[in-house]
Amino acid sequence: MKVLFVCAELYPFLKTGGLADVAAGLPPALKALGCDVRLLMPGFPALMKAARSTKPLAALPQKPLPWGPALQLPQASLVQAKLPGGLLTYLVQSSGLYSRPGNPYLGPNGQDWEDNAGRFAALGWAAASLGQGLDPDWVPDLIHVHDWHAGLAPAYVRAFADAGCTVPATVFTIHNLAYQGLFQSDVFPALGLPSSQFDVPGLEFFGQISFMKAALNFADRLTTVSPTYAREILSAPQGCGLDGVLRERSGVLSGILNGVDYQVWSPQADEFLSKTYDLDALQGKAIAKKKLQLDFGLVPLAKAMVVGVVSRLSTQKGLHLLPDVVDGLVQRGGQLALLGQGDAALEQTLVDAAVKYPGQVAVRIGYDEATAHRVMAGADVIAVPSAFEPCGLTQLYGLRYGTLPLVRRVGGLADTVVDCSLENLEEGLATGFVFDALSAADFLAALRRAFALYRRPAQWRQVQRRGMAQRFDWPTAAQHYLAIYQSLRPGV
Ligand code: ADP
Ligand code: GLC
Repeated sequence: MKVLFVCAELYPFLKTGGLADVAAGLPPALKALGCDVRLLMPGFPALMKAARSTKPLAALPQKPLPWGPALQLPQASLVQAKLPGGLLTYLVQSSGLYSRPGNPYLGPNGQDWEDNAGRFAALGWAAASLGQGLDPDWVPDLIHVHDWHAGLAPAYVRAFADAGCTVPATVFTIHNLAYQGLFQSDVFPALGLPSSQFDVPGLEFFGQISFMKAALNFADRLTTVSPTYAREILSAPQGCGLDGVLRERSGVLSGILNGVDYQVWSPQADEFLSKTYDLDALQGKAIAKKKLQLDFGLVPLAKAMVVGVVSRLSTQKGLHLLPDVVDGLVQRGGQLALLGQGDAALEQTLVDAAVKYPGQVAVRIGYDEATAHRVMAGADVIAVPSAFEPCGLTQLYGLRYGTLPLVRRVGGLADTVVDCSLENLEEGLATGFVFDALSAADFLAALRRAFALYRRPAQWRQVQRRGMAQRFDWPTAAQHYLAIYQSLRPGV
């Protein structure tokens, strides 16, 4: 089966969060199951630069459509490229749309690019056009679309189907319902969609256009990245105003847990560590801890429990609770090593906490892959106290690195971490620390449980080893996606 995988990020070339890791991990696993997978992405500078042996294919069609006028876009064309170590990738090349530095979604002022509707409509349009034979040598049977960025693909595909064309099946995966691709309705005429789609059962959302809603209404199947999040988004507040639409489509919605690329995230093969380690040889972890403490300016005490954080600093991640638990952490002899960037006010609050506790609390503002790996390896605990979390990858990385996850019971965090309650310890199930309310009190209670276990090294090791032995792998997730593909295109 020919599958076109449409997304806006790809590790190691362009990454703002977990989507990039998914785009790097899932397609090869699908390929291993026999799918003929190709990627389609915007031609962002980082990707154009990395691309090898590019081959121009065609201009993106901008001629009148069976249902109305053409899209109005800056000139754009499709090129075929090979990215190092990657699968065959189609890139939408357009200097008018993508030749800008930095973040794929935001300008240097931290605000969305003003022409984001056109920039990402082009991606959806390229997907649908490939479905109509833009590359005559390779026509997808199915288009798998990720997040709002590619959300118009199913809308264009539906428009072609309604016009009597043969079309591929479509699957849409929600990685984060909070980011919806909302635009003023006056951009609608430039998008080249049938006017009938600007409606409640289409992409109209309180007078605006929603790329997310387009995908929710027009894709054949919907998935999200954990079973618990698939349930949570059927009601407020996690439904983010789209829970009604999702309830209507709940019959085609399922939750498939993300996997981990253990070639990238494994302490036994981590290129960013000076000494690798594994379950039966944990000395490397002690070395990583000392190095992390020294690097972050923490007092290099082996017995201090180090809590690590590697995160975007957004309200999603619940890290506004941290300043209120830091006193309790430090009083108990713990340390904090945080790597993150995002919300400026939160960045400042965290930096202030570090100033208050030199040597005990260290905050590094920035985005750095190598440091992320070193925090994951060097910390004793990785904290993910999210307000909501569709899946979450850092807790999964923590498990593999013997860094016990301390998480809120929400979304994919609830599906992947088992609390160190007495009964879970007794029954050999515990893998981390889980708390319920989004409050500093509950967060601190979980931290106190972590301290209590930390003072019992033999039990700590048992929990650590259990987590390290677990696998959340891509082959398993890929099997679930393949079953969905096959249900839509039986026999292909
Ligand atoms: P989200 O996609 O919501 O940000 P995930 O847990 O799914 O959350 O994925 C986050 C990914 O981004 C992980 O690979 C994590 O290591 C990485 N990451 C987050 N913040 C940083 C940072 N400041 N520096 C480097 N990597 C980061
Ligand atoms: C989103 C979510 C995160 C998930 C990631 C990859 O960014 O916030 O929970 O792990 O996508 O699916």
